[in-house]
Amino acid sequence: ILLGYILIFMTIIHPLFVVVLLLFCISSAKGMPRSLICNQCMYFVAHSVQMVEVLSVTVHCTVASRFAHTVMTSSALNKANSSQEIFFEVDLPKTAFITNFSMEIEGQIYVGVVNEKEQAKKQYEKAVSSGRTAGLVKASGRKMEKFSVSVNIAAESNVTFILTYEELLRRKFGKYEILTRINPKQLVENFQIVADIYEPQGIAFVDAHATFLSNELLPLVEKTAHIFFSPTLDQQRKCPECDGSLINGDFIIKYDVKRASSLGDIQIVNGYFVHFFAPPDLPRIRKNVMFVNDRSWSMSGTRMVQSRLAMESILSDVHPEDYFGIILFNDRIEPWKESLTKATEENVDEAIKFVWQLSPKGGTNINDAVIKAIHMLQDDRRNKKLPERSVDMIILLTDGMPNTGERNLQRIQQNVCKAIGGNMTLFCLGFGDYVDYSFLDVMAKQNNGVARRIYEASDATLQLQGFYDEVASPLLSAVDLRYPDNAVDSLTPHHFSQLFNGSEIVVAGRLSENDMDNFLVEVFANGVGEGQVIQCPYMYIFLCVLLLLPPCHYIFCSVDGDPHFMIELPEREDALCFNINDSPGTIFNLVKDPSIGLLVNGQTIGDKMVAPDGKVNTYFGRLGVVHHSLGVRLEVTTEYITLSQDGQKVKLLWSDQASLKGPSVDLLLTKDRSVKVTLRDSVKFVILLHKVWKMHPYHQDYLGFYTLDSHLLSPSVHGLLGQFYHGIEFEVGDQRPGEVPEKPDATMYVKGHQLNVTRGWQRDFRKDLKRGKNVPCWFIHSNGTGLIDGSAEDYIVSGLFKTV
Ligand SMILES: *[C@@H]1O[C@H](CO)[C@@H](O)[C@H](O)[C@H]1NC(C)=O
Ligand SMILES: *[C@@H]1O[C@H](CO)[C@@H](O)[C@H](O)[C@H]1NC(C)=O
Ligand SMILES: *[C@@H]1O[C@H](CO)[C@@H](O)[C@H](O)[C@H]1NC(C)=O
Ligand SMILES: *[C@@H]1O[C@H](CO)[C@@H](O)[C@H](O)[C@H]1NC(C)=O
Ligand SMILES: *[C@@H]1O[C@H](CO)[C@@H](O)[C@H](O)[C@H]1NC(C)=O
Ligand SMILES: *[C@@H]1O[C@H](CO)[C@@H](O)[C@H](O)[C@H]1NC(C)=O
Ligand SMILES: *[C@@H]1O[C@H](CO)[C@@H](O)[C@H](O)[C@H]1NC(C)=O
Repeated sequence: ILLGYILIFMTIIHPLFVVVLLLFCISSAKGMPRSLICNQCMYFVAHSVQMVEVLSVTVHCTVASRFAHTVMTSSALNKANSSQEIFFEVDLPKTAFITNFSMEIEGQIYVGVVNEKEQAKKQYEKAVSSGRTAGLVKASGRKMEKFSVSVNIAAESNVTFILTYEELLRRKFGKYEILTRINPKQLVENFQIVADIYEPQGIAFVDAHATFLSNELLPLVEKTAHIFFSPTLDQQRKCPECDGSLINGDFIIKYDVKRASSLGDIQIVNGYFVHFFAPPDLPRIRKNVMFVNDRSWSMSGTRMVQSRLAMESILSDVHPEDYFGIILFNDRIEPWKESLTKATEENVDEAIKFVWQLSPKGGTNINDAVIKAIHMLQDDRRNKKLPERSVDMIILLTDGMPNTGERNLQRIQQNVCKAIGGNMTLFCLGFGDYVDYSFLDVMAKQNNGVARRIYEASDATLQLQGFYDEVASPLLSAVDLRYPDNAVDSLTPHHFSQLFNGSEIVVAGRLSENDMDNFLVEVFANGVGEGQVIQCPYMYIFLCVLLLLPPCHYIFCSVDGDPHFMIELPEREDALCFNINDSPGTIFNLVKDPSIGLLVNGQTIGDKMVAPDGKVNTYFGRLGVVHHSLGVRLEVTTEYITLSQDGQKVKLLWSDQASLKGPSVDLLLTKDRSVKVTLRDSVKFVILLHKVWKMHPYHQDYLGFYTLDSHLLSPSVHGLLGQFYHGIEFEVGDQRPGEVPEKPDATMYVKGHQLNVTRGWQRDFRKDLKRGKNVPCWFIHSNGTGLIDGSAEDYIVSGLFKTV
């Protein structure tokens, strides 16, 4: 989990209002596309200013495939006869993503701007130093971060706050949980919590309850995939005569999805896929667990009692088939036994006595304690004392900083990582506020585990027990999910040391190809049986409910070969094609989007010499791409590729292999084959290099251009290919025999013209650069006349980067 900051910057141009700055702390899973990240829904609203009436509080949560999109709206009225400050406070889950925040004041909407961490910090500091109002988000409680904003509102005026955030629900103990914390502090005329859950796999169960609801109110909650809760003013009252509201606490929705016996579910949305992997009915694998517990002086008192009570219940729950060991440490390392022990009842009883025996004192030597645990597991493995098919794990519990033995945090991490060598999992529990949690977090992650903070509170025993329960039943180890290399081009982590019972592995990625016919996913993992290989072609479900992403156009336009233009319409299972013949050297405009300053031009080359049949073939031999707003210029010839951006220039040869990633352009060069280019928020395309045998008497190398994703281009996009990006309406009728029997002629009605067309095919080389794939298409004769706007000549430009 990476922590970042986003800033909501709001300038309100009104004499009464100040500039409001908000700093949010957000978290995101490493490498995930922004739009696919989130965690539980949770809120808290408070308006505590006097003479402020909260008119409405509504929470609308839409879950689509574990992806929760929540819009929270709250309106308040300043009843006072003078202007005053109105506060808006929300507790957000640490892993949630704020995607929008806006305020409506007197019919005017002020939309916040979301900035990245560094910029946000600077703007925040600037605002504070110039004495303006600014809001900072701070950690609040275990799972949440609180942010608050206040705004000055004129007498007898209304304000509406609208906050949108997103989260991915994580499965724990066999369910997903949506938690909404709510406390309006007064009766609210219009109070509503609505959640709609769409899960393509189907919903196994839904449960909704609230900590503050009495038995009378409980029936008010509708519990299906549509959850609705909207108590009237009277129902919100603590007692029939009082003004106090009983709405104060957590509103919790829990559900799980149906799991067929299949081994997962893949869902595809606009060029991204998400794979949910949680196979049902797998037997657990045995585990060998070393508990490494801090008994240094700082653990005295309540902490020691709580950790011992937790150990007592954890040990009693260790499966009798599992092996375990205990090390208590301060500046000395005190193993219970020199090797691991089977968790029989007698052994567990004996271990519990040992845990209670030693009193806390001395310093903290984390390094030696963990290394000892590693050695014990390794020795027992070597001496074949442990079951062959089992997983090894270490659970470290500490409340302090290493202050004896090795104290350098990085060196401890290196020692532990080297000793473990990827062969076991390390979980770290940081107890209380004095631990260096980031040190534990990094160390756990380096060794395939996770760290957890244990908050010092009366329920610490339960927190410890809860963590153990989550990891107590591993079902698979060394889980490796593989996707076809040529079909995906960026993936979130897809190797997992374990899959635990009741959890779920989620992998997301970007699809590099839209033809998903052969999307084969393989899962390699160790289970109880022999090394299992799970392999199955997946069914996938197209989602229509994800609100964030625009609809995808399924149109692929390309030009390849002796300029063969092709417009593929997979939705119609059809394609159109045409050729343009002209003398070598001509430059054509292929794509032009004036509203974003995008231009793609191509220059033709001819054969080295006229072939004996007298035919002069032409091909594209040079392509030029300019994106003015991104400041990007790309030139691709059959020899080299040059990319210039903001005065910097990179030159690559086709014999190179390269991957460049920048804020506005990504480029992936596959040696002697293709260069794939993504221009941020506009277009994605691939250019293929057709290499012709060097000694070929007539032909020479040439290029092919294929658009992969064009849905972000503006409606004004044009050009020989560009004009088709937004679709093309046509009808074909009156099929009749043509010159060649297998190529019938027909009449096409398109753009108000009636054209003679011929059924034929052209080759799409995207997947098979040597032979290509035959795509049947309707061929439009005479340089595409009638199909393209104007005539082919209209598309001729004077230079590779020229618009006319
Ligand atoms: C504002 O209201 C207070 C009482 O609520 C009253 O005393 C005061 O005169 C009012 N001021 C104006 C300007 O109306
Ligand atoms: C943010 O919210 C405001 C008002 O609710 C809306 O007008 C605006 O389009 C939203 N912005 C985005 C990026 O969704
Ligand atoms: C405030 O909002 C409420 C409910 O939308 C509306 O009835 C009322 O007229 C508004 N008051 C003002 C002063 O805008
Ligand atoms: C996994 O958890 C479920 C309850 O969530 C339980 O019924 C099942 O027995 C557990 N499976 C194993 C192998 O522990
Ligand atoms: C990890 O396990 C492999 C295979 O059993 C073994 O070859 C390797 O030496 C182990 N590494 C360490 C650091 O123990
Ligand atoms: C189209 O083909 C028909 C016969 O197949 C012919 O009579 C007609 O002249 C052709 N039209 C054009 C515009 O070429
Ligand atoms: C179109 O086709 C004709 C006849 O095949 C040819 O002479 C002409 O040069 C072609 N090119 C353009 C750009 O019109």
